[in-house]
Amino acid sequence: MFLFDDYECIRQSWSVRQMRLVILDSYDDVSLWAAKYVRRRILDFNPGPDRYFTLGLPTGSTPLGMYKKLIEFHNAGKLCFKYVKTFNMDEYVGLQRNHPESYHTFMWQNFFKHIDIQPENAHILDGNAPDTVKECDEFENKIKESGGIELFIGGIGPDGHIAFNEPGSSLVSRTRVKTLNQDTIQANARFFDGEISKVPTEALTVGVGTVMDAREVMILITGAHKSFALHKAIEEGINHMWTVSAFQQHPKTIFICDEDATLELRVKTVKYFNGLMHVHNKLVEDPPEK
Ligand code: PGA
Repeated sequence: MFLFDDYECIRQSWSVRQMRLVILDSYDDVSLWAAKYVRRRILDFNPGPDRYFTLGLPTGSTPLGMYKKLIEFHNAGKLCFKYVKTFNMDEYVGLQRNHPESYHTFMWQNFFKHIDIQPENAHILDGNAPDTVKECDEFENKIKESGGIELFIGGIGPDGHIAFNEPGSSLVSRTRVKTLNQDTIQANARFFDGEISKVPTEALTVGVGTVMDAREVMILITGAHKSFALHKAIEEGINHMWTVSAFQQHPKTIFICDEDATLELRVKTVKYFNGLMHVHNKLVEDPPEK
């Protein structure tokens, strides 16, 4: 039987450990595990009217499965977002808020409209703000006023970018306006009828430093096309050409990946982290009875 003391022991060991890597069989397993982890962190925090849990959130195809699972937990009465605040990582500049490809639309369609979050607590950068620099500064201030981010969730690109912090971004960067590189614009053209001219060329994005300030960071990586990025993220040195590698210096980062994403990792890396799965799995169990 798993006792509360065992759980506390694992949680406390978390604060002195380095990074965690959780390897699961498939995308669906990653989605479920990540959602259980988020649920468990919110339940443990025990949010209330004077104590909001603050989440950093990504868009993209990777987190979609996790959002679906979180919605299921909510519908089953197992998770409440009434006292949760969210801050999204990024938004395009110049795209109408209700454009089908805006990150506002993505978040409301895929997550927020299905849960009980108060709209004023779901913060997304305004890419149509008259003064985008001011908008970015105010976003940083709102995060600070909320007491900082408890858990920042991110995905990464095959080039190791996190949010719109593309290769070469400063690893201490803050929320700012970024000009998108040509590769990103081309990759995104598929969402804009294949027409490069319709793809926004700028975005507002949190910086690597903004995510580093979170008390905990969770990164989801799935698919063989991300396997080299995962290798660069965890097996080599910190390098601004692979911005996700910055999280090697974060005291509490958890990478969650599927088997395919491990293709470029050393066998001994995979073996080491697989050997810790019995410990990691305890972190997503239902809360112990007190
Ligand atoms: P994806 O995007 O989840 O759609 O792969 C992640 C990213 O580019 O940050």
